[in-house]
Amino acid sequence: MTNVQLLITNESQLAHNRSVICAVKSRTESETPGHICDAQTPGFPLSAFRFAFETPRLLFRDRQPAFLVNAGLFVFSASRAFLRNCGQTIVLNLPSRGGWCVSRIRTPLEFRPAAGQRSTEIPMRSESEVLFEDNPFTIPVADRVRRLPPYLFGTINKRKYQLRVAGVDVIDLGMGNPTDPPDPLIIKKIEESLVDPRNHRYSVSNGISNLRKEVSARYLKRYGVRLDPNDEVLACLGSKEGFSHLCLALMGPGDTAIVPAPSFPIHVYSVMLASGNVIALDVRDPDKFLRNIAYTCEHLVPKPKVVVVNFPHNPSSTVIESDFYVELVRLAKKHHFLVISDFAYADICYDGYKAPSFLSTPGALDVGVELTSMSKSYSMAGWRIGFCCGNREMVRALATIKGYYDYGIFQPIQIAAIVAMRHCDAAIDTMAAEYQSRRDALCDGLKRIGWTVEPPKAGMFIWAEIPEPWKKMGSIEFAMKLLNEGGVAVSPGRGFGTEGEGFLRMAIVENSQRLRQAIRQIDKCLTATEAASA
Ligand SMILES: Cc1ncc(COP(=O)(O)O)c(C=O)c1O
Repeated sequence: MTNVQLLITNESQLAHNRSVICAVKSRTESETPGHICDAQTPGFPLSAFRFAFETPRLLFRDRQPAFLVNAGLFVFSASRAFLRNCGQTIVLNLPSRGGWCVSRIRTPLEFRPAAGQRSTEIPMRSESEVLFEDNPFTIPVADRVRRLPPYLFGTINKRKYQLRVAGVDVIDLGMGNPTDPPDPLIIKKIEESLVDPRNHRYSVSNGISNLRKEVSARYLKRYGVRLDPNDEVLACLGSKEGFSHLCLALMGPGDTAIVPAPSFPIHVYSVMLASGNVIALDVRDPDKFLRNIAYTCEHLVPKPKVVVVNFPHNPSSTVIESDFYVELVRLAKKHHFLVISDFAYADICYDGYKAPSFLSTPGALDVGVELTSMSKSYSMAGWRIGFCCGNREMVRALATIKGYYDYGIFQPIQIAAIVAMRHCDAAIDTMAAEYQSRRDALCDGLKRIGWTVEPPKAGMFIWAEIPEPWKKMGSIEFAMKLLNEGGVAVSPGRGFGTEGEGFLRMAIVENSQRLRQAIRQIDKCLTATEAASA
């Protein structure tokens, strides 16, 4: 028996290299952490694997070569003969001696489901993507597109649409898509800017100078952070675009990113689309998250290149205090990883809590950047405007990619954004107070019908554990039940990765009255089922 710790790269790297070198490290049985994976893995005895930090993203689809979806730090024990037999073509030459060593996976690496067996799919994909059906005329799309798993939220969105067409008034708590309009001053400014013919030309891809100056002034005012508007601030088409292209600018085959789990889908898929590997670590206990980052950096070869943090966190609403970032910066300097802080919910805080900015930590500018957004703070989600600020090398790398890909944000939007930041702080406070009363309405209501919920200190989501006896139904089926029988749309926790199973994410984007109505409808639908089965 050989006990090894093995980093398996994703399919894109396999495609690039045709053969892959994996770092492996011998371990003793007693050291082996984790649990036995219970994933269905046709054609490959995955149950033989034990996973150090996370359940795997090692998946098989019946369409096309099945694949290793992303990285995992796998700990398994197996004999050489066993490994040779597993899968059709994989051969791992595992050394039997201890210490660091190298193992080779030979290609072609195709794990096809055995005849008659169904494939296993990972239900994560960008929240806004539309479900697509298989087309008999095959279009040979790029591997990076084929590699994306089926869209879990697709079935729910499709059903939501059908119900709406049929005239059902669905209460939609599915997406963190604000329903409230921006401040009238912002609307007035964009109207004025629209009639100026100079504003209809291509803009600059990193944002107009006055906008970057305003962002820099805002960071100084709110967080005491000094940023050079020329080199340390960049405007992007929403923070999601900034994040995705930043991954493309920083990562490539063989690079690994640590991302928070449960995972906002784009944190995982931007890395994958950049051909990088993902290690998803549970974020709900921030101290443990930090310890696992340190552990991973100490044991993984090569070390992770990027660590993504997102506080207030989507979907779990986990928050941290500024000492978290002090330790993160210390680890980043020690292990030489880059930090990307997704700070989309910076301003949606409750009960006097103030979310700290990563950039306000001493040394943060040496190791990372922070993405902020106007989508939530100013209810400007459809306008597509956000910012990437911080380390100038990282900002420059993103600017380079964007210079090739886009011509910047429509100028009237940039001008209105300046006005928003300069004059609409009061609107942010009003909005945060409104979200707080919605949070209370939803949490109080859920508690009243017997659910256990922790009211979040920030963010736009209630991360609610599914109560017994419904939990065993699974979050996807349960969310579907609430939609079909209760007329309430929520996001199943499973859509945010395996760590989200057993939970629902409810966005507090409807007003308090509608939220109370949602509770009544949920209660009625669950009580009716209980009565029917009694
Ligand atoms: C954590 C997180 N980051 C980024 C975004 C995207 O924000 P933007 O509209 O600025 O692209 C969202 C939106 O839901 C989010 O939840």
